[in-house]
Amino acid sequence: MQARVLVLLLACALMVAIGQPILREEGAATTASRTQVEQAPSAEGDTDSQPEVDGGLATDDDAHSKPPVSKKPQPAEFEPVDCTKKRCVALSFDDGPSLPTPRLLDILKNQKVPATFFLVGQMVKWHPKTTARISREGHEVGVHGWNHADLRRLKPKDLDWQLHRTKQLIQQATGIRPTLCRPPYGASNKQVLKAEKRAGLAEVLWNIDTQDWKIRNAKHVRNSVLNHVKRNTVVLMHDIRPTTVDAIPQMVRELKRRGFTLVTVTQLFGTTKPGVSYLDWR
Ligand code: NI
Repeated sequence: MQARVLVLLLACALMVAIGQPILREEGAATTASRTQVEQAPSAEGDTDSQPEVDGGLATDDDAHSKPPVSKKPQPAEFEPVDCTKKRCVALSFDDGPSLPTPRLLDILKNQKVPATFFLVGQMVKWHPKTTARISREGHEVGVHGWNHADLRRLKPKDLDWQLHRTKQLIQQATGIRPTLCRPPYGASNKQVLKAEKRAGLAEVLWNIDTQDWKIRNAKHVRNSVLNHVKRNTVVLMHDIRPTTVDAIPQMVRELKRRGFTLVTVTQLFGTTKPGVSYLDWR
C-alpha cells in the first residue's frame, strides 16, 4: 500500500518536473503577445486592427506592428542622384498601401530600384506594417489625403485635418516626416496649395498617367510607360491593382536596358518647397 503511494507521489513529481518548463514557455508566449497588442499603434484611441475585407488573402498582421522609437520624425534621406546628367524616371504608386503592395515591394527589392508611394491615411491605418516596410526598404512616402476625397471641395479646416492626420499616421508608422503630397485625382487649386503649404508638403503631379485604375491589363500599363517615357518623368500608377504589380518586373528591366535610372521623387527634384506644385500641367 505504502509502496503504491510512493510510486504515485514519484509519478506526480515527475509530471510536475516535465510539465513546468512547458507551462513556463506558454506563459512567456502569452505575456509577449499581450505586450505586443498593447504596443500596437492605437495610441489615439482608434482600432487599428481592422481585418482585411477584400481579396481573401493573408493579412500582414498589421495590428501587431510597433511604431518606431524615433521621437521627432525627420524627412527621408536619399542618396543624391544628378538627374541633369542621368536619365531619371520616378515611378509613383497611389492609393495604397494595399494587399498587392508587399508583392510590389518584393519586386522592387529584387530589382534594387526605389519608388514613391502616395499613401491614403485610412489605408495606412489598416496597414501600418506595410507602410513601415515601404519606408524601411528605401522608398519615399507621401500624402494622398485621408479618404481619397476631392480636396478642392473641402473647407480649409477639413482639408488641414485630412493632410495632418494622414501625415501623422505615416510618421507613426515610419518615423519619417513626409514632404510631398499628391492630391487625389490630381485635383488642386489655390486653397489646396495653401493647405499643403501649411502642412509642409510640396505638391507632386505626374507626366505619364498609365490609367491603370481603368484599364486593368499588365501589358497596357507597361506599354503606356515604355511608349511615352522621357528623361525625368514621373509615372502615375496604383499599387492597389494586381495588374499594375504584374507590369512592373518587365517594365523596370526595359527602363534599365534603355539606360534610365529609377529614382524617388525627391531624388528627381532635389529639395522641394511646401505649397509649390511640381509638374502642374495646367
Ligand atoms: Ni488616388
